[in-house]
Amino acid sequence: MKVLITGAAGNAGIAVSRLLAEAGYELRLADVATPPDDVRALGEFVRCDTRTPSDVEAAVTGVDAVIHLAAWHCGHFPPVSDRTIFAVNVDGTFNLLETCRGNGGPPVVYASSMAYGWRGVYSVTKVLGEELCRAYHEMTGASVAMLRYHAFVPGPYLDFGARLLRNGVDRQDVATATLAALRGVTEKDIGLFNTIVHTNHHMPAEVVARFSALGPDWCEEQLPGARGLIEKYGIHIPERVEQHDLSEAEKVLGWQPAIGFIEFLRDLKQRDAAGLDVTDLVVPGELPT
Ligand SMILES: NC(=O)c1ccc[n+]([C@@H]2O[C@H](COP(=O)([O-])OP(=O)(O)OC[C@H]3O[C@@H](n4cnc5c(N)ncnc54)[C@H](O)[C@@H]3O)[C@@H](O)[C@H]2O)c1
Repeated sequence: MKVLITGAAGNAGIAVSRLLAEAGYELRLADVATPPDDVRALGEFVRCDTRTPSDVEAAVTGVDAVIHLAAWHCGHFPPVSDRTIFAVNVDGTFNLLETCRGNGGPPVVYASSMAYGWRGVYSVTKVLGEELCRAYHEMTGASVAMLRYHAFVPGPYLDFGARLLRNGVDRQDVATATLAALRGVTEKDIGLFNTIVHTNHHMPAEVVARFSALGPDWCEEQLPGARGLIEKYGIHIPERVEQHDLSEAEKVLGWQPAIGFIEFLRDLKQRDAAGLDVTDLVVPGELPT
């Protein structure tokens, strides 16, 4: 099966491309930027600006399924203008789906966001992106999975654990959810499916609700030494944990996230025991599991 990945040179695109190649998919990688050499070697690279219909036509022709990741978001430095965010995320998505419609209506996985909403231009582009996906599904009957990813923008390692307790998700979990969604749209008749992609800490509800009071002890029970690590590295403990019900994703896609706060602490414990300096470490989302 030949799969088009738009935004293949980006943070998610790199992880998704690697995972799909491992899973045996034939890949067409599309981006305005060139992916790193090891990712480029995983498939056919086509330079494609999703705002240009002829680029999109060349990218879509002949593929069996599409993963649409190409977009600009608010986390870039220097920032991308709202006008460009709107053009790439909305016009680009329209061009892609319109071209898919003219090419047999392949199934689509769409990168939405927990930023979905009306609080800013980027958020609105994800609302419009989901609506365009809905229309594409209605018009073609193709299965479409819309994944509302939580945050996985690269950042300092020591902030990563605390971010998982709030709105963070590991990039590898983003990739495994995307692969599960691809299987869902190509192998099952899932119609139009929408899910949140977040972390699961497997904490009792009471610990979720009163994490600052109960969390450190609960962590210590799961992983001896956890409380000491939290204190030593000054890891911010929120009053409560953000935790979504991910059971629908498990039921429909067979997907569960693998990296929660305890997995982060387990990794930190190993690095601490090895005497490694983690202060300058940046997490693109590749914690050893
Ligand atoms: N990073 C996050 O925290 C996060 C959270 C929720 C949702 N998302 C969504 O996930 C997707 C991937 O995000 P990411 O963090 O990997 O972003 P990223 O910025 O790392 O990658 C986006 C890629 O899209 C490419 N691109 C930009 N404009 C393009 C165009 N006109 N044509 C073709 N390619 C273009 C860029 O070159 C880049 O390689 C996006 O749709 C984003 O909105 C990201």
